[in-house]
Amino acid sequence: MIENGAVLDTDTTREEVIVERSEPFQTLVSTLSRYLNKGGGRGAFITGPSGAGKTMLAERLQEQLRRERMAMESAYVNVWEYSSTSEVLVTALDEVGRHMNYDQRGTPHAELRRLLREAHDDPLLLVLDEVHQIEEPALVGQFLRMDGVFTVLICNDRFDLTRRLDRTSRVSGLRHVHLEAYRAETIERILRERIEFGLESGSVTDEFVLEVAALVEGDARLAIEALGVGVDDARSNNVRPIPGHWAEGAVDEAREIIRQRPLSRLNQTQRAIYEELLDCGGWVQMGTLDERLMARGIDVSRQTIRRHLDSLDHYNLCEQKGQTKGKRYRCVTG
Ligand SMILES: Nc1ncnc2c1ncn2[C@@H]1O[C@H](COP(=O)(O)OP(=O)(O)OP(=O)(O)O)[C@@H](O)[C@H]1O
Ligand SMILES: [Mg+2]
Repeated sequence: MIENGAVLDTDTTREEVIVERSEPFQTLVSTLSRYLNKGGGRGAFITGPSGAGKTMLAERLQEQLRRERMAMESAYVNVWEYSSTSEVLVTALDEVGRHMNYDQRGTPHAELRRLLREAHDDPLLLVLDEVHQIEEPALVGQFLRMDGVFTVLICNDRFDLTRRLDRTSRVSGLRHVHLEAYRAETIERILRERIEFGLESGSVTDEFVLEVAALVEGDARLAIEALGVGVDDARSNNVRPIPGHWAEGAVDEAREIIRQRPLSRLNQTQRAIYEELLDCGGWVQMGTLDERLMARGIDVSRQTIRRHLDSLDHYNLCEQKGQTKGKRYRCVTG
């Protein structure tokens, strides 16, 4: 059934097949060109809901630089994985070919920033994906003030980041590209393109594609994942083509697969918070959570705990209710 496995991989898009995002893409390209030619605007914001194509657009921008051999280097940092100031800087240095050995990783931040400034001869396109996860938001302002660096900030909602920044960070002047969730017809095209590219003809019914497109609320990742579930089930049950009435089950299962994925990427503190919430079972106040974490030997500020709780909430692993002191948190399970 499968001719090319990449078709079901949500970490890849084929270059020639960006469906319907040429306008925001051109906005990014022209903002970047203006920066290179005239030095204006030191970056851009890409926002929008999950599966709207934010990471994909930033990757395309990097590819465009390579393809057109523009005199610009690029670095991509997934801040969800590398959230501390040192991690972000060391990863960016790594991306521009200035690898650090283990002993050098404790280098002071100012020195790491200096190394980054010097590591690239040409201007640098720096992509900070999932930037709301950043441990010290002041670093964003430092990048935006750095000469020769054009920073692309990616997050779902600009406010997730900007409420943690002060005025000196200069984010208000950034070009903002907001991607709305896709319409069902666009999801349908994205699916059809993938099917045509990677599956044998006659593997999927039209009904399945249409149903999935109608169910995923504009989230391309969920749609592609659901196609993957459909393909797996069809292979193990020896059914062909994938019938329309499987769509709902496939989307539900895909949603669960996506929900589980961040769990494996939690850092030690996030995992501890998640486990404590799970252990408590119901709604918990900050004070209780703080005490339980202390008892586990995890000594972090309430501000940090709150930031991690926001991240867990963002990935649908916990929920919150109430305001300020009365705020309560609860683990979300299956
Ligand atoms: N316009 C499109 N054309 C073709 N494929 C697309 C398009 N938009 C998204 N995709 C595919 O959908 C998947 C999800 O897209 P992407 O990773 O860019 O989402 P995102 O907006 O970064 O979501 P998140 O906030 O969850 O990180 C990827 O596999 C991507 O290649
Ligand atoms: Mg993304």
